[in-house]
Amino acid sequence: MSNYHIKHLEEYYQVYRKSIREPENFWEEIAEEHFIWRKKWDKVLEWDFSKPEIKWFQGAKLNITENCIDRHLATRGDKTAILFEPNNPNEKAEHISYKKLYERVNQFANVLKENGIQKGDRVCIYVPMIPELAIATLACARIGAIHSVVFAGFSSTALSTRINDSDCKMVITADGSFRGNKTIDLKGIVDDALESCSCVETVLVAKRINSDINMKEGRDKWLQPLLDSASKQCKATVMDAEDPLFILYTSGSTGKPKGMVHTTAGYMVYTAYTFKNAFQYKENDVYWCTADIGWITGHSYIVYGPLANGATTVLFEGAPSYPDFGRFWNIVEKHKVNQFYTAPTAIRALAKHGTELVDKYDLSSLKVLGSVGEPINEEAWHWYNDIVGKGKSPIIDSWWQTETGGIMITPIPYVTPTKPTYATLPFIGIQPALMDETGNELKGNQVEGRLCIKYPWPSIARTIWGNHQRYKETYFSAFENKYFTGDGALRDEVGYYRITGRVDDVIIVSGHNLGTAPIEDAINEHPAVAESAIVGFPHDVKGSALYGYITLKETGESRNHDNLKKEVNQLISDRIGPIAKLDKIQFTEGLPKTRSGKIMRRILRKIASNDLNNLGDVSTLLNPEIVENIIKNKL
Ligand code: WTA
Repeated sequence: MSNYHIKHLEEYYQVYRKSIREPENFWEEIAEEHFIWRKKWDKVLEWDFSKPEIKWFQGAKLNITENCIDRHLATRGDKTAILFEPNNPNEKAEHISYKKLYERVNQFANVLKENGIQKGDRVCIYVPMIPELAIATLACARIGAIHSVVFAGFSSTALSTRINDSDCKMVITADGSFRGNKTIDLKGIVDDALESCSCVETVLVAKRINSDINMKEGRDKWLQPLLDSASKQCKATVMDAEDPLFILYTSGSTGKPKGMVHTTAGYMVYTAYTFKNAFQYKENDVYWCTADIGWITGHSYIVYGPLANGATTVLFEGAPSYPDFGRFWNIVEKHKVNQFYTAPTAIRALAKHGTELVDKYDLSSLKVLGSVGEPINEEAWHWYNDIVGKGKSPIIDSWWQTETGGIMITPIPYVTPTKPTYATLPFIGIQPALMDETGNELKGNQVEGRLCIKYPWPSIARTIWGNHQRYKETYFSAFENKYFTGDGALRDEVGYYRITGRVDDVIIVSGHNLGTAPIEDAINEHPAVAESAIVGFPHDVKGSALYGYITLKETGESRNHDNLKKEVNQLISDRIGPIAKLDKIQFTEGLPKTRSGKIMRRILRKIASNDLNNLGDVSTLLNPEIVENIIKNKL
């Protein structure tokens, strides 16, 4: 019998136990009954975390777009697949049916082919949240090209690094984007980026803001005329289960972003199955995830997971604050949204504006409220639960990562009793472990440690593009035979998990992962800067914000510190993007260091967070006197 849709707690435990006892049988059944395959697999799973090597559904042949689009045509052809809500509330929403999506994806796929894109080629997609973003993504998948979507808020340097890292042959972009009452010159950013990317042959440009842009002869082409003359039929390329579907970059502890590689079959099976259950999606529900497709949340839970289930998925172009802070609730009312998935930072920002803007709208369609991207604090949880959900729509606080491809720890709504700030129970098939610092697994409940996963699940990233060694070192070396998440967690007396935050040099600001190293690299480029260290500190809207400690070169010249601060933030904005700007900058004569010369970020973090009683023993530092000095001048 199918375990595809879990409906009560007893069933969860029963299915969970089965998925752990016989993982291969379990996933085979799900794969067999709920997807279409050109050819079934020869082997369900082969894995070795020491290499590491993970293969699901080896030998199977499929195309993910046939699962996300073609197979729905017979029964859901006229159903809305993508519901596009533009930035401007007065612009009409667009309902793209499965049939229309089929045609548009095929046309786009044909344009890609006509422009020399073949199976295995990398295509960079730098497009705002308009339908073309989802369609371009699916068009790549249709012909087996590997998409690398880059969030359209990243700077030209961040974009060029990503394009070069995976040798993209093509960039798909737009003339510009709307964000609230501003427009952003996306094409200008692409032009800058491409100054240093020799691999790119073609740039396809969607028209969105109708701005007057520069088109480079022989390289840049307007998308629409090409689409208009392309055929609405495009045969799906048959892919192997383990062929790469996409690359998505995430920050790491060193300067270079990591291009996480996700493959086809396992990713499809897991995102579809988690979508169905974590959101309790039912036919005719309207589902809305507010993330950008430039992040993993958008890949898995705007595009692939929902479409694989034949769902209606809302794609929102704008910002939660435009034209006012009631926009989200306005959209929920307008489209009768049933499942709503957002980030704690958005909830905190909206909560600041009181309850009036929520109460103004009819939110009675809501059945499930999701949270993702960072720990949700108690206050935000209650506001979401009580004010938005009126205590009737369970919150699913879902923990997962770019690397995990899909949701890993989450309540199942109407199944798992929720508990504020707890992601609660592992999803079906997921085997978490908490480890102490010496590498021992902490058994039993009421323990806290480093969060690992003991057994592969279908949508785990298979490698880092071009750097398998880094993949091994980052995720499989800290604890033997386990995937290490980089997060800390605790398990309470009933076995519920609560994620306590990152235990490495990644800081999550407004739900965006930021590595400290690339930010420090950007700052250190400033000619007046000798050295810098970035730490996170608690912030009531962003969750964490960035605090920078900077030492200046001794040039004898006295510089205006306010100007310097501006210049430093401008550099960060240019190199990474405005999201990585520092909230606080303290110039200091030195940074606390160990005798081997390592910056003691632990101490700086405590100072920035005002946690001055727990600095620990500083006497073993190379320069203990600097700590007093930094505290004295703290911001
Ligand atoms: C954090 C986002 C607490 C965590 C899907 C993780 C969370 C990182 C939660 C991955 C949650 C995500 N509670 N922390 N519900 N969800 N995180 O790759 O630190 O953008 O490792 O994937 O976000 O961020 P990423």
